[in-house]
Amino acid sequence: MQKAGILGLGCYLPPKKLTNSDLEKMVETSDEWITTRTGIKERRIASKEVAASDLGAEASRAAIKDAGLLPEDIDLIITATITPDMAFPATSCIIQDKIGAKNAACFDINAACSGFVFTMVIAQQFVNSGLYNHVLVVGTEKLTSIVDWKDRLTCVLFGDGAGACVVGKSKNRVILSSFMGADGSGGHLLSVPAGGSRLPATEDTVKDRLHFLKMEGNEVFKIAVRIMVDAANKAIKKAGLGRDDISLFIPHQANIRILLAVAKRLGVPQEKIFMNIEKYGNMSAASTAVALVEASQENRIKKGEHVVLVAFGGGLTYGAVVVKW
Ligand code: COA
Repeated sequence: MQKAGILGLGCYLPPKKLTNSDLEKMVETSDEWITTRTGIKERRIASKEVAASDLGAEASRAAIKDAGLLPEDIDLIITATITPDMAFPATSCIIQDKIGAKNAACFDINAACSGFVFTMVIAQQFVNSGLYNHVLVVGTEKLTSIVDWKDRLTCVLFGDGAGACVVGKSKNRVILSSFMGADGSGGHLLSVPAGGSRLPATEDTVKDRLHFLKMEGNEVFKIAVRIMVDAANKAIKKAGLGRDDISLFIPHQANIRILLAVAKRLGVPQEKIFMNIEKYGNMSAASTAVALVEASQENRIKKGEHVVLVAFGGGLTYGAVVVKW
């Protein structure tokens, strides 16, 4: 019996690049500091009129084409984003309209940087239960719309982009297992404090810069390594595999030092950790999506090999999926 797997993949990165030397002109920072502390050299910036749905629609069209399907064949769209076009309607509905997927049900999820991994798990359930045949999952972010360009602690880290995947019954690239977790007590470590029902927009919230992303970077760093390794190990175990059976780990791209620490703690060589953070920075839900697409396009995964997608993010949330290519 065929199980839920990857039918098609696509991504979209806005063409405009913001380099570390560009940032040197905006805040008190240096290429040297950003490179050594984060591994990021440049990130993509979507233009003013572009929203998360525009990036997501481009990635979706590419994924549907890659799957050999038409937009009408999609029966569910799930978008993971923390930068929706607006509070509602859901960004999935806006993407549906843009791409002409008129037969699809739509909803969004908010699991921050773990969002794309979570959507893969949700899609897997719908496909394996037989409720839907072709689920389009999208990770899309215009993080530069919530970045405080006066805060050097955060503005150097983030970028814009989108990745998408069509999940359906498949003989290969099958989702074998998954793990999802959360720790709400760490929610304050990464958040946009205002703009919701707790602190609706007022002149004061704008003046106090509370609509921008806030982060306690050092705390997040410590937790990130532990929870990503834990999530990866749990998903690998559930698949009945061991660490050495995994050919490639595709982790959320938050900081190169986090990725290297994860490799060390997992006990795997660096070559087994996919990295593209140098080019894009942290794109939250889009990071693992784009990394998965690029790993596939660069032929980093051979037929029959096992890969692990693993992420952590605001919430706090964390999760992993194991895919047999
Ligand atoms: N340019 C230059 N200097 C900077 C800087 C910047 N952009 N940002 C901070 N600094 C300074 C600090 O002010 C501090 O100066 P001080 O020693 O004089 O006080 C010094 O650099 C060290 O700051 P620190 O915060 O200790 O750096 P760090 O090594 O912890 O790196 C992060 C900071 C944010 C890169 C790192 O903590 C991190 O990546 N955390 C995880 C973030 C993350 O994963 N977020 C997304 C989750 S999905």
